Amino acid sequence: MAKKAYLEYDGKKIALPVIIGTENEVAIDISKLRSETGLITLDKGFKNTGSTTSEITYLDGEKGILRHRGYSIEDLASKSTFTEVCYLLIYGNLPTSNQLLKFEIKLKSHTLVHEDFKIILDGFPSNAHPMGILSSLITSLTAFYPKSIDPNRSGDKVDLSIIRMLSKFPTFVAWSYKKRIGHPIVYPDNNLDYCSNFLKMMFKMPTENYDYNPLISDVLNKLLILHADHEQNCSTSTVRIVGSSLSSIYASISGGMNALWGPLHGGANQAVIEMLEKIKKDGSNINKYIKKAKDKNDPFRLMGFGHRVYRNFDPRAKIIKEAADNVLDKLGINDPILDLAKALEKIALKDQYFIDKKLYPNVDFYSGIIYRALGFPPEMFTVMFAFGRLPGWIAQWKEMRKNNEPLGRPRQIYTGKKSLKYVEIDKR
Ligand code: MLT
Repeated sequence: MAKKAYLEYDGKKIALPVIIGTENEVAIDISKLRSETGLITLDKGFKNTGSTTSEITYLDGEKGILRHRGYSIEDLASKSTFTEVCYLLIYGNLPTSNQLLKFEIKLKSHTLVHEDFKIILDGFPSNAHPMGILSSLITSLTAFYPKSIDPNRSGDKVDLSIIRMLSKFPTFVAWSYKKRIGHPIVYPDNNLDYCSNFLKMMFKMPTENYDYNPLISDVLNKLLILHADHEQNCSTSTVRIVGSSLSSIYASISGGMNALWGPLHGGANQAVIEMLEKIKKDGSNINKYIKKAKDKNDPFRLMGFGHRVYRNFDPRAKIIKEAADNVLDKLGINDPILDLAKALEKIALKDQYFIDKKLYPNVDFYSGIIYRALGFPPEMFTVMFAFGRLPGWIAQWKEMRKNNEPLGRPRQIYTGKKSLKYVEIDKR
């Protein structure tokens, strides 16, 4: 028999249906609460509120579990490729080798962008933050592909928009970077795999041949996989709510880009490096900054620690820490910032304050160190987070549309002034 929850208020008692997920998560379905009782619930930041049901990603914050379509992040990060994970998230199952080949061929056939995108890029000042440039370029895809705006597009037409998004985003990222450093743009090279083509567009110098390094391509695949999806985080919820108005996939993804930009979300990896640089500049006195982080009256906070969902280690942080060690060692890079990060983590993990508050390093704590080692400047770190999250945003948007989910429109409790009489002033 279906389980129920009971709510009693003001002498009335109602039964509310209970939903139990495939991993035994339990939710009280309050869809009919207001119509039956006039009541709403209030949950600022939605810390206790589910916005949807989803088959894409499962995470358990207490046990540090993260799975995509049932596959563990550990397996995907160590055995898969980013394009294979894109396929898994977007189409719901791991591809056969033939399906993956066809998918990658489709991706290669849309890597070029309209030459007019260079005019848009030239319209930005060279110091424009790449997240603002990229969210603009993504939205401008609706101008070059106006049929993508039609909310009632058929499945294969939506799939074309998805392929275009995945194919052109690396080109957008690389071109916005080249624009920022005043170098000529590098056109896509479809002889290379997805990640290697991106790295070549990013780092090929106009005066030299590009030295393809499989180690760097491999670690980039891993980094992008680790960021691919994370259930209903701030930016994904933004993509879903924008899409719920029947806005196009490009407008919805652009909304997610802008939500990710904030330092409390995707901007955290850039904020971690800025924090570590600040500590290093101040004599690497870690204990001083641990003390500041614990002082309620001090605005300093340890970036890259703690997580809204993980009350244990972020499983991605463990993988990224190992990758950081490995890639810096193999590239022969001795980065004092990595040493500082490891020393900070070691002290913080022994400090009762952080243990009690379950403040463990999250995915952002080490990702910036690897991106730095690969040659990305800090202002590109959040862009790389967005790059990884692209398939997750797309998959979640697709699921929301497939399930014909209703327009997202939360309610509120009004706490402003009661009714006032309008008294007209002498406006002469
Ligand atoms: C993410 O991967 O989106 C971040 O860890 C933030 C989150 O899940 O809330």
